[in-house]
Amino acid sequence: MLTSQKIVDALNEQIGYEFAASLQYVAIGSYFALESLPQLASHFYKQAEEERDHAMRFVNYVAELGAQVRIPGIQAPESQFKEAEQAVKLSLESELMVTQRINQLVELAKSESDHITLNFLQFFLKEQLEEVNSMDGLLKIVQRAGESRLLLVEEHLARKHDSLVTKEDHD
Ligand SMILES: [Fe+2]
Ligand SMILES: [Fe+2]
Repeated sequence: MLTSQKIVDALNEQIGYEFAASLQYVAIGSYFALESLPQLASHFYKQAEEERDHAMRFVNYVAELGAQVRIPGIQAPESQFKEAEQAVKLSLESELMVTQRINQLVELAKSESDHITLNFLQFFLKEQLEEVNSMDGLLKIVQRAGESRLLLVEEHLARKHDSLVTKEDHD
């Protein structure tokens, strides 16, 4: 095998965290759907898909290493929120926690001089910077608008979505 069992175990653990993040975002998206905030709902459903994609990257990598994929038990996500701010705060905290886990994986790979895994993890370091940043931004916007004016957040997300779609059209 290209790497140690210790690294394979840590990678398998990370598959669980990524799937847990995916489920958490599905739960948050459905909270927003119930609150009739469709832009926020679809924003979180999209994040859920991205987390699933992260999980699958780890799955494929473990398989590529010639090791056994073992998906751990996933904790049920939090699905009750008293307000939007609480849900977005939880998301930011969870991104910060995942960042810590990725850092720990990097440390472990370093300590084992596993440069192939270090190289694989580079994508996730970049991704975490992006996701923490964008979740932090969304939290600030939700806080600035306030619970009674979440429609402003909806408008903001709709505009952002439109400009992304137009950009894609031109690319
Ligand atoms: Fe992730
Ligand atoms: Fe994430």
